Amino acid sequence: MILHPVFPSFIAIEQITLDNNLLEVYCKNQVSNSNQSKYLNLSEDLLKPLLEKVTYLSNEICKQIGLQSNQRVTRAWTNVNLNQAIVQPHSHTKSVFSSVYYVKGSIGSGDLTFMTPINCLGYVYNEDRIKERTDFNTTEISIPPVSGTLVIFPSWLQHYVRQTNTERISIAMETNYENV
Ligand SMILES: [Fe+2]
Repeated sequence: MILHPVFPSFIAIEQITLDNNLLEVYCKNQVSNSNQSKYLNLSEDLLKPLLEKVTYLSNEICKQIGLQSNQRVTRAWTNVNLNQAIVQPHSHTKSVFSSVYYVKGSIGSGDLTFMTPINCLGYVYNEDRIKERTDFNTTEISIPPVSGTLVIFPSWLQHYVRQTNTERISIAMETNYENV
C-alpha cells in the first residue's frame, strides 16, 4: 500500500559564502541596547549578495511548489545573541516565506526549532508509540545555527530559538510578492 504524504511543508537549507567578518561588524553596529535591530536598510551594499541570494532561492522554491515566482525581500533585521522575542514560539504573519542567515554561530549556540503545525500529533503519536522517527511522527525539527547557513521556510511555520551561551549572530528576512 502506498502512503501519500498530505499537506506537506518544507524547510530549505543552503550553505552560502559571504564575508561574515564584515557582516558581523555591520550587525553589531545595528543593535544598541537590545539584541534585536530595527529593520535594516535593504539598499545597504553589504547586504546585497545576501538579499539577492534569498530572493533567488525563495523564487526557485516558489517554482517547485507551484507559486508565482516574483517574491522580493520586504524587510530584514538582525539578532545578536539572545533575544527574548525569538525564544517564544511564533510565526511571521506579514510575509510568505521567512529566512534566516547565520553570520556567526556553531553547533550548540541555540538551535532554530520548528514545530509541527499538527497540534495533536505529539499527543496521538506519543513517545511510547514511536519505534522509528519518520516525517509522519516528527513533532519538532532543530537546525543548528552554524555560520554560513541559510534557512528558508514558510512564514506560517511556527518556530522558536533556543537560548545560547556562545555568540550567535543572525540576519532574519521576510519575502513577499512584488505587488504587496
Ligand atoms: Fe522568527
